Formats: sequence, C-alpha cells, structure tokens
Amino acid sequence: MAGFSWYLSEGFQVIIEKSKEAKCSLKDIQLRFLCPDDLEEVRSLCRDWFPIEYPQSWYEDITSSERFFALAAVYKCQIIGLIVAEIKPYLKLNTEDRGILSRWFASKDTLVAYILSLGVVRSYRRSGVATMLLDVLINHLSGPMPQPPHEHRVKAIFLHVLTTNSEAILFYEKRRFRLHSFLPYYYSINGRCKDGFTYVYYVNGGHAPWGLYDYVKYVARAAWRGGGLYPWLWGKLRTALTIAWHRHGLQLRDAAFTLRRRRAAIRDCGRFPITMQS
Ligand SMILES: CC(C)(COP(=O)(O)OP(=O)(O)OC[C@H]1O[C@@H](n2cnc3c(N)ncnc32)[C@H](O)[C@@H]1OP(=O)(O)O)[C@@H](O)C(=O)NCCC(=O)NCCS
Repeated sequence: MAGFSWYLSEGFQVIIEKSKEAKCSLKDIQLRFLCPDDLEEVRSLCRDWFPIEYPQSWYEDITSSERFFALAAVYKCQIIGLIVAEIKPYLKLNTEDRGILSRWFASKDTLVAYILSLGVVRSYRRSGVATMLLDVLINHLSGPMPQPPHEHRVKAIFLHVLTTNSEAILFYEKRRFRLHSFLPYYYSINGRCKDGFTYVYYVNGGHAPWGLYDYVKYVARAAWRGGGLYPWLWGKLRTALTIAWHRHGLQLRDAAFTLRRRRAAIRDCGRFPITMQS
C-alpha cells in the first residue's frame, strides 16, 4: 500500500477536533429498519451528507426492498443516522472489487456485504452513532447468532470512499477496516472525476489474497502452534510406539517361554538321569 502514502501526506486533511458536548445518550437512540414513509427524510439527509445525487429509484429501493440491510438510528422521532448495506454473491462483484478476497473463497456460496451508505447528522457526530450502526451490521453478519439465509457465508464487508473524505476514512480505520485498493477517477462528481479507495473488513474467516509473507507466517504459526503438523507427528509416534511395545512384549514372552522350557528340561533331567549309550 506504499503507493497511497502521497495521498496521506498531501491530499488528506486530518480532522482531529472533537466535540466535547454530549449531544445525546446512545441509550436514548432507537434502531429500526427503514420503511417507505422514510423516503423524503432519507433523501434530504443524503443530500446533506454526500456530494452524489442518487436517483429516485435508489431511495425507493433502500426504503422498501428487502434486498438491503437499511437501518436507521432514531432520536426523538428523527432519523439521526443510517447505514445501508447490500449482501451480494462474491462472484457477481465488478472486476475492481473481485480482488478483496483470496481465490480460496471464489465459490458460488461466498457472499460479501457492500456498504452503500453510512451517515450521521452533523450535530450528532462523534457520539458513537455510526459505531453503533456498524456494530449492528457486523453482528448481524458474523455474530454468535448470524441471521439466515447467509449465516457465516459473508466473508467481507467493503465500501468505496472518496480519497478526500477524511472523516469517513478515519472512522473506518478506527473500526479496523483495511485499505485495499486505490481507484483512480472512480467517482464522477459534478462532471469532475474523483479518486476513491476501497476499504475492507473481513469476517467469518475471510481474508485478502495471500502474498509470500502470509504463507511463511501461516507455516511458521502452524509449526509453532502445532496445528496440523503436531497431530500428524503424534499419530505416527503413537503407531511406532505401539508396534515397538508389541514386539518387545512378544520378545519378553518368547524369552519367558524359553526359560520355562529350560527349567523344565533341567527338572526332567534330574528325574530321569540320562543313560550313556555306547
Ligand atoms: C463518517 C461518519 C459516518 C462518522 O460518524 P460518527 O457517528 O461521527 O462516528 P463515531 O462517533 O462512531 O466515531 C467513531 C470513531 O471514528 C473516528 N472518527 C469519526 N469521525 C472522525 C473525525 N471527524 N475526525 C477524526 N476521527 C473521527 C474517531 O476515532 C471516533 O472515535 P472517538 O470519537 O472516540 O475519537 C460521519 O462523519 C458522517 O456522517 N460523515 C458524512 C457521511 C460520510 O462521508 N459517510 C461515509 C461514506 S462511505
């Protein structure tokens, strides 16, 4: 990821000021899925948060279709934050996104979750609202009780973000999303091309394609922990010990038998003295 460092040093404005005043307590926030009645409210929020103009059909979809995981954070009857994600088959991703998972996961069973939208009303930011919404999504996909029909089949949660959206980048990095790729001219905003990044968070054992270093690390860890290698070695050793023990037992039994025969022979010789024949 060295190629991105110039962005981080030049094109990236770090926003570090943090509002001290508590705007609302997370305890007072209710979570619920979006419904068709939310369409206008969601549209005005998205217009405020994002530089992209979404078509009417997009708002209709996210507020009514079951295809989307569209969750709202509601405070005093107002939507103050929302997250929208879509679960898709990995094999149906666009070419630029196909590299997020290792080839091991290239099967029709593998799913991924794409975050289309995550936003919080400005006055409620830095209160943990986005964290709460993202946690619900992650828990829904990979928690101890993942929901059917995609239990544990979702291997990655990913998103695209403008390279200049420092707030979102800092948020996702704080949440351990990994920078995966740089997408030059990915967005078209007001007729101008803008660059994007892909960020990925792996769940349910999913991982990025491995490089040489990852393979070396895997083998070293397996040898250290004994995963796979030690049980095999232990199995072989046990078989060898069993065979050795068995053979040793047979030898002992043979030796004991020979000894008994010799003793019996000596006893018999005493009782019936051998007569010398000329
Ligand atoms: C990105 C966004 C959703 C974050 O929402 P939020 O509710 O403020 O996030 P949280 O309060 O859960 O922040 C969690 C952590 O992320 C980091 N973070 C979030 N916003 C940050 C900012 N402006 N500057 C620095 N760090 C930030 C912090 O580490 C924060 O933890 P802290 O407050 O304990 O320091 C919000 O800024 C937003 O709506 N932006 C506009 C819409 C957008 O760009 N969405 C992303 C599109 S992909």
